[in-house]
Amino acid sequence: MKPIIAVCHTPSDNTRLLAAALLRGMQAGTEQHDALCQLPPRDVEASHVLAAGGLIIGTTENFGSMAGLTKDFLERIYYPCLEKTQGLPVGIYIRAGQDGRGTARQLETIITGLRWRMVQPMLTLRGPFEPGFADEVETLGCTLSAGIEAGIF
Ligand SMILES: Cc1cc2nc3c(=O)[nH]c(=O)nc-3n(C[C@H](O)[C@H](O)[C@H](O)COP(=O)(O)O)c2cc1C
Repeated sequence: MKPIIAVCHTPSDNTRLLAAALLRGMQAGTEQHDALCQLPPRDVEASHVLAAGGLIIGTTENFGSMAGLTKDFLERIYYPCLEKTQGLPVGIYIRAGQDGRGTARQLETIITGLRWRMVQPMLTLRGPFEPGFADEVETLGCTLSAGIEAGIF
């Protein structure tokens, strides 16, 4: 199985909890744990994405926009990956204190430009933190890895 890469921005305890839940879910979906990789956005390069069989992006919303480090990641990989990663299965979760819509709009535009394939609608985890957010992210991770292993995505 090609690598599945989770690009998670984790500036707080809650977002670290979400990233841990995501990895748990990814591991639950496949026995090929050596194909699973979780990295902060600044450590992900275009070569990772070009080699990937699937991708998950986890970002916060800051100032009505995706986190700067998530945007920097997408800016660095966009042109090297354009035309070469069409159809890449992708899952996205946004942790937003109050809103999240600006981030969702931005990511939708970029994913459309890259012609990546969303495996399920974007998750926006909005408002005061709830334990159920981790369950949603865990399910996303499991869906992506199980679906890729089964050849569904
Ligand atoms: C500088 C800064 C700007 C923020 N701007 C927004 C925003 O525009 N919209 C929003 O929904 N949340 C905003 N937040 C809240 C963050 O999305 C939230 O704190 C982050 O996702 C981490 O979640 P947590 O507080 O549950 O750990 C902002 C937080 C910071 C630190």
